[in-house]
Amino acid sequence: QADAQSERYRPQFHFSPKAHWINDPNGMVYYKGTYHLFCQYHPESSVWGPMHWIHATSKDMVHWQEQPIALYPDSLGYIFSGSAVVDVNNTSGFGKNGQVPLVAIFTHHNSKLEKTQPEQVQYQSLAYSLDEGKTWTKYAGNPVLKNPGITDFRDPKVRWYEPQKKWIMTLATKDRVTFYSSPDLKKWARESDFGSDAGAHGGVWECPDLFPLKHNGKDVWVLIVNINPGGPNKGSAAQYFLGDFDGKNFNAYSKQTKWMDYGTDNYAGVTFSNTGNRVVLMGWMNNWQYARDVPTPKWRGATTIPRELGLKEANKELYLTSTPIKELDVLDGKITSLTNVDVKGSSDLTAKTGGKYDTFKLTLSAPATNDFSVVLANEQGNELVIGYDKSANTYYIDRTKSGKTDFEKDFGKRMTAPRLSTDKTISLTLFIDVASAELFADDGLSVMTGIFFPNQPLTKLSIKSATGTSISKLTYTKLSPSVQ
Ligand code: FRU
Repeated sequence: QADAQSERYRPQFHFSPKAHWINDPNGMVYYKGTYHLFCQYHPESSVWGPMHWIHATSKDMVHWQEQPIALYPDSLGYIFSGSAVVDVNNTSGFGKNGQVPLVAIFTHHNSKLEKTQPEQVQYQSLAYSLDEGKTWTKYAGNPVLKNPGITDFRDPKVRWYEPQKKWIMTLATKDRVTFYSSPDLKKWARESDFGSDAGAHGGVWECPDLFPLKHNGKDVWVLIVNINPGGPNKGSAAQYFLGDFDGKNFNAYSKQTKWMDYGTDNYAGVTFSNTGNRVVLMGWMNNWQYARDVPTPKWRGATTIPRELGLKEANKELYLTSTPIKELDVLDGKITSLTNVDVKGSSDLTAKTGGKYDTFKLTLSAPATNDFSVVLANEQGNELVIGYDKSANTYYIDRTKSGKTDFEKDFGKRMTAPRLSTDKTISLTLFIDVASAELFADDGLSVMTGIFFPNQPLTKLSIKSATGTSISKLTYTKLSPSVQ
């Protein structure tokens, strides 16, 4: 029973572990035609425990294959979150005879010190691979960055800073991020910190990332900072800042938080390294508020679809945008295109779209002058409602009646995201993968990710609008994944 139920909710085109628990994506790196994904992993149970790095590989970031565990806990502690880089110039010296090492930079979490020396529990260490990520060797000189006396000192995200030919580590340090630099990944010097007086502080800062994106020909630096709790719809979420970075300091254009994804289920997202100018992020499709209680007892946790990040102006403000990567098009199956769908009250699209809603993509354009919603339902009365509320000018995903919600008191609610665009036409792209909804509105300006657990599969699709509206264009694309 539990097995069958667990499997029924398993995503078909997202990475999830064959069994047991995952949280944050770690060490994402592209090397020699293969994308590598690691995740926080507990191989002995479906709840969090001593952390390992599970490993998965993909040629397209869409189809993932689980590989043997990459990193196991050791005498220095559990293996917490971190990143991986291609050390092209062998600055670390781990490469032998011209080999290019892949180097993972991660947090060791020494649980033995939790009670007696909480400010010494976390420090940063290295592991390297000389066989394209298959096997990993921990550096004998670990840790490479000792704890200066901070209870939360973790999640190193490392990138090469070409203008000064040095590595930059962005590290979460409790209520701020601290930047370190290194010539060789082994010796680290503190550069500066950012954030104690900026952004949201409803919870601890975790899993940061720092990278440039071009805007009007100029570099704009994006600093992503995950925060738990304190998200806009409760629990964990990802905020970001835009600014300049000079190899030492990050200067934000504004100290106000912006949210990368307003939904409850995109946490600890960071970007791949070694993808050139392209910036692609994946998050953990879950929320610390209920991650251990979601009704998939045999496996827990999946990643989001990969999202390409960009910048876009709306109403004279610059924002980070997230859009589904184009590689996802390989999933496209039968397409149903409709134009000028007049909706008065409710318009049932079930017959036109086939009556089976496990995996699909829906895009639509509609005037921003009217409310509307996309309703997925079944005969049991389960309903997932995704829509636009004109008077509040917000998008929402409402899982109040979405099926199993009682495992956590706030799960069965409506989550909202402001509409930032001022365009007259709303454009939405929605990906559904069995038990997850990922909504990208207005070219990725307003984004929401939410998981849900219908008691029975969804069999009905309709568009509703109390005030009435006309959907100028709607495409429904059946997605045909092969199970990972
Ligand atoms: C974020 C996080 C990280 C930490 C890891 C432990 O979800 O709390 O800060 O490294 O998970 O599993």
